[in-house]
Amino acid sequence: MAIIEISNLHKIYESKVPVKAVNGIDLKIAEGEFTAIVGPSGSGKTTLLNMIGGLDMPSNGKIVIGGINIGHLKSQQLIDYRLNNIGFVFQAYNLIPVLTAQENVAFILELQGVSKKERNNIASELLHKVGIGDKLNRRPGDLSGGQQQRVSVARALASNPKFILADEPTANLDSRSTGELLDLMLKMNLERSTTFIFSTHDQRVMEKARRIITIEDGKIASDISKN
Ligand SMILES: Nc1ncnc2c1ncn2[C@@H]1O[C@H](COP(=O)(O)OP(=O)(O)OP(=O)(O)O)[C@@H](O)[C@H]1O
Ligand SMILES: [Mg+2]
Repeated sequence: MAIIEISNLHKIYESKVPVKAVNGIDLKIAEGEFTAIVGPSGSGKTTLLNMIGGLDMPSNGKIVIGGINIGHLKSQQLIDYRLNNIGFVFQAYNLIPVLTAQENVAFILELQGVSKKERNNIASELLHKVGIGDKLNRRPGDLSGGQQQRVSVARALASNPKFILADEPTANLDSRSTGELLDLMLKMNLERSTTFIFSTHDQRVMEKARRIITIEDGKIASDISKN
């Protein structure tokens, strides 16, 4: 069953010269997919992910997630919807600098009303899983880029979302961290059937994807599923 159904999606940025960043996309994503969105710089990948995540509004077309047209949600409904269904690993959706790694992960659980003891336990467990269990009390500024990225992934997983949107999750990571992060994502995909949709320029990430959607000039140029 499709968890995400996108039809006739358009996004025009109204600058001096209007930019058709997404220009007529139809797409279905099934539960449990591990899908990469690839394409040249400026082709519309981030714009597409932002709209799927309800962070940006389409100019035209619709996005139906789990049977709900997210364009019809009021702003508070959309906020709640995001909180309970989507994990974000986005650069623009970054860690809170004054909170420790553990507090950053626990914060999303606090918003969901999880008790303090339980959220601290979950945050600690997830940070161990992503390989930085010894850095629970570090603030983001005292972690490397790769370690910060792992905190973002732990935070995205904390709320046990139906799907995770990741915009170039391995950008700025060395090859070892990239491999570890990919393994972790695949493990979550297998163990929890979490659906992953991520944009990437990274060949190693594309190799692990089971479906590769190529975007060019705001349109789908190819859509290939491996078996
Ligand atoms: N806020 C904005 N205002 C105006 N134009 C924008 C805005 N955001 C993106 N664009 C334009 O929309 C197009 C698509 O941008 P987008 O960021 O989605 O590309 P991308 O595929 O994610 O690129 P990259 O691989 O470099 O991250 C580009 O031409 C970009 O310049
Ligand atoms: Mg981008």
